[in-house]
Amino acid sequence: MSYPYQIKTLEDYKKDYNKSISDPESFWTPIAETFTWRKKWDKVLDWNFKDPKISWFSGGKLNITENCIDRHLEKNSNTPAIIWESNDPEEHHRVLTYKELHFKVVQFANVLRNNGAKKGDRICIYMGMIPELAIATLACARIGAIHSVIFGGFSAQAIADRLDDAKAEFIITCDGAFRGTKDIPLKSVIDDALVGNHTVKKVIVCTRTRTPVSMIKGRDVWWEDEIKKVETHGNPDLPAEEMDAEDMLFILYTSGSTGKPKGVVHTTAGYMIWTNYTFVNVFQYQPGQVHFCTADIGWITGHSYIIYGPLSAGATALMFEGLPTSPDAGRFWDIVEKYKVNILYTAPTAIRSLMAYGNDYINGKDLSSLKVLGSVGEPINEEAWNWYNVNIGKEKCPIVDTWWQTETGGVMISNLANVTPAKPSFATLPLPGILPCLMDENGSEIEGNNVNGNLCIKMPWPGIIRTTYGDHERCKQTYFSAYENKYFTGDGCMRDSEGNYRITGRVDDVLNVSGHRIGTAEVENAINMHAGVIESAVVGYPHDIKGQAIYAYVIYDGSHGDSNLSKQDIIQTVSRIIGPIAKPDKIQFVPGLPKTRSGKIMRRILRKIAEGDVTNLGDTSTLIDPALIELILEGKL
Ligand code: PRX
Repeated sequence: MSYPYQIKTLEDYKKDYNKSISDPESFWTPIAETFTWRKKWDKVLDWNFKDPKISWFSGGKLNITENCIDRHLEKNSNTPAIIWESNDPEEHHRVLTYKELHFKVVQFANVLRNNGAKKGDRICIYMGMIPELAIATLACARIGAIHSVIFGGFSAQAIADRLDDAKAEFIITCDGAFRGTKDIPLKSVIDDALVGNHTVKKVIVCTRTRTPVSMIKGRDVWWEDEIKKVETHGNPDLPAEEMDAEDMLFILYTSGSTGKPKGVVHTTAGYMIWTNYTFVNVFQYQPGQVHFCTADIGWITGHSYIIYGPLSAGATALMFEGLPTSPDAGRFWDIVEKYKVNILYTAPTAIRSLMAYGNDYINGKDLSSLKVLGSVGEPINEEAWNWYNVNIGKEKCPIVDTWWQTETGGVMISNLANVTPAKPSFATLPLPGILPCLMDENGSEIEGNNVNGNLCIKMPWPGIIRTTYGDHERCKQTYFSAYENKYFTGDGCMRDSEGNYRITGRVDDVLNVSGHRIGTAEVENAINMHAGVIESAVVGYPHDIKGQAIYAYVIYDGSHGDSNLSKQDIIQTVSRIIGPIAKPDKIQFVPGLPKTRSGKIMRRILRKIAEGDVTNLGDTSTLIDPALIELILEGKL
């Protein structure tokens, strides 16, 4: 496959960038024309950020799986589409060529159809990182069903909330998932999530761990049995459903500043073109290369850079079931050596954790196949950047620091490997199509360089969020109301003298723990479920490995038992309500929470205390009870 829109030089980048901003319609037209359409679009772009109403390529008809699979069959049917490495290094790996992937996706699409799934149905996928997860996702897209993948670390309650919000009719899961030395009993978590659910009609269960599960007659079926039924009918072909460019492709839940996660909606054509364009340009993918994105498909990074970006580009995506530190901290490097990985895309938290294990796990490993390194999910500190550059890239591989979000569908600000310069801890320059700006607290744009502000985007790009599922008003309020006519990212940012952007972190009540987005209100709600908790406030504090960790201030009713045991109970409660990723790292019992006269918790002060920055707590005169601060400081952990 060739990519006529792959940018090769800094001059081309500047030319393409300028054109994409001054005339987006003629910029995107030839790019869109390289894809497979059933019917060409009527209009490239229609938008207003007021409602918001954004449509790309409206009137166009297509199916994303024809672009991700079928169109590669003529010339590249034997190219590996997915290489899968097990959690267990002793277990044989699997390779699915484009031809085999096509066969399996069509086969499972038949299973979905046979079980009554159709265009527009919401299908929740809760699986470990096995090829069947990618197959299930693509099979949904093939029949026009809307997939909603839920990360395997979320708890039954978190799943129940998402099933409810999406009004999901089907679930695809596994008996269990392997993660390091653990087996996660996925099906039993689903059983718990389904207590009281009235929308789910069928649960399809794929075998992975052979963990015993209970199957409910009429509701639960085995993946393998259903495949056999399709086989006995001679594996009928299943032509892809014709979708409108703006038909929903998927919902992916993400945390915000309220207690309830929101279902970010991406649609078909724009998302496809954006993930493909960014994949080809940021990583400078060359046909035949092996791309290893270490994210889980339960997050947007896995959606965009394991499935849709690479596959639409006919690339080879490596999918890894396990953990970077299991059986030891050399696991990534063994994988790079084994498959001659060319592009490695991972998160700063993983880099920092592997860095802490020392270089013994790297020495002797052949990493010479690596050409490009990537970072995503949180700011990468200079120490981690340098370590990655020297020890993994051997100072020969560009590091692309890619800033983007679940809502943006694909990379927004990043250097392009070997094309535009890197600058440690800076995401650097916007991709073509992206017009960033920095805004001040009063809603005015901050012009010039060497300035700080809230990062907004002034015009739509093909991969922009279209709505939040079932609640368009929420989408409007969250992203399009803070600043008129702009998409608000929720991130703070600085622009240097050369126009490079550096993301400084969230400016809302959202934490970034090990690259996972967690809303403080969500954690507070979970903590407050504990019978002994009267009130709580959650803030983030810097953590060497995780980037940010969770500090919870809790007003606790002592009559509920020993306080140390209660802290463990509270942690378990959070794990049960959200999942282990949201467990507080520190819990401090406090006699009260610092509030203003209007009853608002002064998080700024709590944040400073948690960060250990207590010399200048700022103005505390508006607090109802300023003396409380001393008591909180005394008990600081
Ligand atoms: O704060 C930014 C941070 O992660 C947030 C988005 O999180 P999520 O939707 O879970 O998507 C993560 C993967 C794309 C952003 O608002 N973030 C993401 N990438 C970077 C980053 N912060 C700094 N530098 C990055 N490269």
